[in-house]
Order: sequence, then structure tokens, then C-alpha cells
Amino acid sequence: EHELSLRPRFLAEYIGQRQVKENLKVFIEAAKLRKEALDHVLLYGPPGLGKTTLSQIIANELGVSIRTTSGPAIERPGDLAALLTNLQEGDVLFIDEIHRLNRSVEEVLYPAMEDFALDIIIGKGPSARSVRLELPPFTLIGATTRAGMLSAPLRDRFGVVNRLDYYTVEELAFIVTRAADILQIGIKEGGAIEIAKRSRGTPRVANRLLKRVRDFAQVQGEGVITEEIANEALTRLQVDSCGLDHIDHKLLLAIIDKFSGGPVGLDTIAATIGEEWQTIEDVYEPYLMQIGFMQRTPRGRTVTGAAYQHFGREMKQ
Ligand code: ADE
Repeated sequence: EHELSLRPRFLAEYIGQRQVKENLKVFIEAAKLRKEALDHVLLYGPPGLGKTTLSQIIANELGVSIRTTSGPAIERPGDLAALLTNLQEGDVLFIDEIHRLNRSVEEVLYPAMEDFALDIIIGKGPSARSVRLELPPFTLIGATTRAGMLSAPLRDRFGVVNRLDYYTVEELAFIVTRAADILQIGIKEGGAIEIAKRSRGTPRVANRLLKRVRDFAQVQGEGVITEEIANEALTRLQVDSCGLDHIDHKLLLAIIDKFSGGPVGLDTIAATIGEEWQTIEDVYEPYLMQIGFMQRTPRGRTVTGAAYQHFGREMKQ
């Protein structure tokens, strides 16, 4: 699959998140020296910043296999038991959206993380008893967009906790240039920077935009991504100069036009623009807050002067 081949496979190829990378490098090396499983790792931050990629890299660097699943996919304790008992010593189990695990599954996970043990209840009623099954030492990597939604006992069982941040334009331009190389499309520095500027700090968005701009470069240009081609393509894709799309616009303009700039509750915004509140909170809001277009207050969301200016509107007092 193409998407996978764009992903870096080792830490040395991974651009950005410098501190996370440098620390992981030490922890991985130490675990290998001691011939132990790496301590459990929690990765959190907005979607598209490379949590899955980083998990695959960790497994590659450790030289172990990775099993990938997600919180909602593990419906019952037995589903988790099946995954755990299939691991080899030192393997990585990656659970995406780990904040969506249900309580009964979480309770099986605690002894598995802490003691590498599985407590199984055999029988029903008065004759029911608990049997402890040993597991091979393994590394759990949990990923979530919201560390705040993890229960305290689960959060406390991760020895390594890393927050991923939005990438700088410079880092994204590097990522886009590297991906263009892999896709064998020529790109000028100005083209890479133009795509980077409009990728809302997110490699996943950058690589998606790169593929679309490549289409324009090959069909309408000379097969090279220049600043001009990138600019034209991104405008046609309705990605504005700040990387905002029509949903961002709908969101901001609804608050400006219908609620006088706020404060307005998330539920009300969601109902007004017809999007899920979770998507607004996980995907749209974090970036709009990062660039200073939106704020969260105790009474609801407000839009800032910078956002009014972006739309050429006057802010009423
Ligand atoms: N592709 C997606 N994310 C990347 C990253 N952080 N470094 C290099 N290539 C990437």
C-alpha cells in the first residue's frame, strides 16, 4: 500500500517531535541492552501526527512484531485475552483510541500490564474461581487524542507518556519533500513550503495534499510541483492560506454570524453546522486554537479577532 511506504520505518527517518524521538531512542536502547520488553508507552495528541507510525517504528527498532487493534474493536474481555495470549516475548500490542476501551476490558488489561498475567474466571455462581495465566512480557502502546479521557488507573500504568505536537512548516516541508522523492515527483522548495503552510501542522494532511497537487502538476503543469502549481491546486481544493477547509469556515462563520462571536456551547455549534461534537472537539478545534482563531472559555467557545480578520470581518464590541 502506498500510504504505508510513505511512512518512515526507523527513528532516523522520522522528522519532527524531536524530544519524543530522542527520549524514545534512549528507552529503546536501554530495553534492548537489558533484554527486556520496553515499558508501556502512551502516545497522545491530535489525529494525523504519527502515533501509528511511531508505534511501528518502535517495534522495528526493538526488532519485534506489532499487533494493531483499537479500543472500540475490543468488545469483550475474551477479545483482549485472545490478543494477549498470541503475543511473543517482547512484542508490541498497539491499541489505537485506547480511551474507548470499555470498563470490563480495562480491568483485564491492568494485571496484564502490571504483572504480565491474565486473570480468568472459570465457572459460574458459588463454584466460580479465578485462574491466573502467565503472559510473555510485552509492550503495550496506547494512542489517544484525549489523554484526559483515560481513567487514572490506566494512565498510571504507562511508564512512558509522550505528547505529540503539531509540526512546524519547516518540518512539514521536509516531510513533503521526502514523500515527493518516494512518489518520484519533482518538487521545488517553494512548492513544498506552500503545501506545508496549508497542512494544518499535520503530516497526514500534508501527504494527502501532496498527492492531489501532484495530479495538477502532471496534468496541467510540467510534472514538477512549483509554488505556483501548489497555490493553484490548493485553491481549487478549497484549502485556504491557513490550511482551513470548508468545515473550518462553516464552524467559524457560524459562531461569528449566528452567535456574535460567542461564547457558545459545543453542542449548539455542532447542531448548527451538522457535525458531530466529538469530531469538532478532536479534529477541528485543536488546530483552530493552536493558530489562535478560537478559544475555550468556561461559558463556551469564542472566536478571536484574528479569525475575524482572516475573513475580513469587523469584530463588534
Ligand atoms: N511521514 C509522515 N509523518 C512523517 C514524519 N514524522 N517523518 C517523516 N515522514 C513522515
